[in-house]
Amino acid sequence: RKYRKTIIAGNWKMHKTATETKRFAERLKGALPRSKRCSIVLCVPYVDIPAAVKLLKDSRVAVGAQNLHWEASGPFTGEISAAMLADLDVKYVIIGHSERRAHFGESDLIINKKIHAALAAGLRPILCVGEDLAQRQLGVTLEFITYQLKAALAGVSPEAMRRVVIAYEPIWAIGTGNTATPEQAGEVCAAIRGVLRKLYGARIARSTTIQYGGSMNETNAEALLHQEDVDGGLIGTAALDPEKFLQIIQTAN
Ligand code: G3P
Repeated sequence: RKYRKTIIAGNWKMHKTATETKRFAERLKGALPRSKRCSIVLCVPYVDIPAAVKLLKDSRVAVGAQNLHWEASGPFTGEISAAMLADLDVKYVIIGHSERRAHFGESDLIINKKIHAALAAGLRPILCVGEDLAQRQLGVTLEFITYQLKAALAGVSPEAMRRVVIAYEPIWAIGTGNTATPEQAGEVCAAIRGVLRKLYGARIARSTTIQYGGSMNETNAEALLHQEDVDGGLIGTAALDPEKFLQIIQTAN
């Protein structure tokens, strides 16, 4: 824990209206622990960003987005650019979530472009990687994740890498209640750090925050966060309930 920041991030996915965001943010703000050992991020739907930013302005919670478009601007109906997010005071953006890879056909090339777009606009990308059940059963998890990391980070300079957060999210653990064991999470997060060491050297590898995501909740967070190489969580379901999210923050704090 000496070299890197623990980051607890919520990923609301397609949940909560702006009105519900307001209620959640008020509750969160009113109950945050004083000590600031971990960073806190809330990644909300695009339309909830203004409400979240406004309400969390003077708090220790940073607001994140869940996606962006890779071009700076242009004829892309319905899309949102990195600059638009940065202008709203968004600090983080999730990139390469398995749901976007699966349902929206996001390729490694697109994910790489999005990482570059986020970094160019001064946003901190939270890059998601993770194997599916078949890959785990076939024993190719580490090879697959190494490939995902190399592809997503192609062309990212060591300087820019300081702003990248990695989230290890095994697909079989997302939204299933089937959390990875602390050992499984720790093993893959350590392997991710090993890949970063090869790509960027020991200093950057040991200072990069590597989160675990996949059915992390107020009950299992402590054991997962106890792992040497697990530096936080990317939390879906449990981040929809302010009390549960606060409990996880408390655990990390
Ligand atoms: O990005 C977070 C996520 O995919 C995990 O979701 O519901 O399993 O916590 P959940």
